[in-house]
Amino acid sequence: MMRLVKGNSFISLKDYSRGDILSVMQGISTYDDQNLKRFIPNKKKLIANLFYEPSTRTSSSFYAAATYLGYEVLSINNVQYSSVAKGESLEDTIRTLASYVHCIILRHSEEGAAFLASLVSDVPIINAGDGIGEHPTQTLLDLYTIYKEFNRLDRLTVTLMGDLKYGRTIHSLVQVLNMFDVHINLIGPDNLMLPSQYYKKEYIESTVLTENVAMSTDVLYITRVQKERGAVGNYAFTEKDSKNLSDKCIVMHPLPRNEELGDWFDSDPRGRYFEQMSNGLAVRKYLLGEILG
Ligand code: NCD
Repeated sequence: MMRLVKGNSFISLKDYSRGDILSVMQGISTYDDQNLKRFIPNKKKLIANLFYEPSTRTSSSFYAAATYLGYEVLSINNVQYSSVAKGESLEDTIRTLASYVHCIILRHSEEGAAFLASLVSDVPIINAGDGIGEHPTQTLLDLYTIYKEFNRLDRLTVTLMGDLKYGRTIHSLVQVLNMFDVHINLIGPDNLMLPSQYYKKEYIESTVLTENVAMSTDVLYITRVQKERGAVGNYAFTEKDSKNLSDKCIVMHPLPRNEELGDWFDSDPRGRYFEQMSNGLAVRKYLLGEILG
């Protein structure tokens, strides 16, 4: 049963089945390539982009997706200028916006915030990142990037490298990869390893990207140290690592990047992080189209 239905919130991918994910991949592709003609613009619908944490790609791609579909967008990304600065709770902020708009896109620093918001909201909430919890719309664009490349989500080896402890993009992605026939390797400093609740299979763990792991990898997914959550760590994807990867391997990163992925790699044909970023538009058009109709 497809759980992405009109009027429902979009909080997590963990209850989706493999079939749900594959049909989402098909759905996103119908929004790809500027395929907007299916939609009759309806200027009367208004969406709130409520961001309690910084964002470039997620907020602007939701804004662009909504605008291209004919919706109007109310952007609140400077919460210090809203009543949040007067101590208003998340619940009251959501109740307020829900009475003015048709859908709320929420990014918040607390894990579980989007779920909490969905409990008090009369309109759908889309989770645009809840602390170290999940970032399910990022996961859809990550999966879609992989799907476009390999035309499947099974029989792949995915190596996750970086801050696996605090990175919400990792937490969302690993839950879905576990539903598929995907071999997962975990590379990162010991203090930034994946929290135990996400372990569903046997993973190879290492502090460095070994030659063996690199050679067998189809997708290398790198993330930055989440310093704003207190994470400390030092690692980087090196030229030696890049030589050990196969020609068919793709290198992904949710961005923003810091020292873990230097711009020296940008001219390498295996990089897919800019494609990920642009795939975000199709994903968000799809989600808004399905949820708002
Ligand atoms: C990610 C996030 O906010 O979790 N950014 C994004 O949405 N592309 C990754 C990050 O901040 O490291």
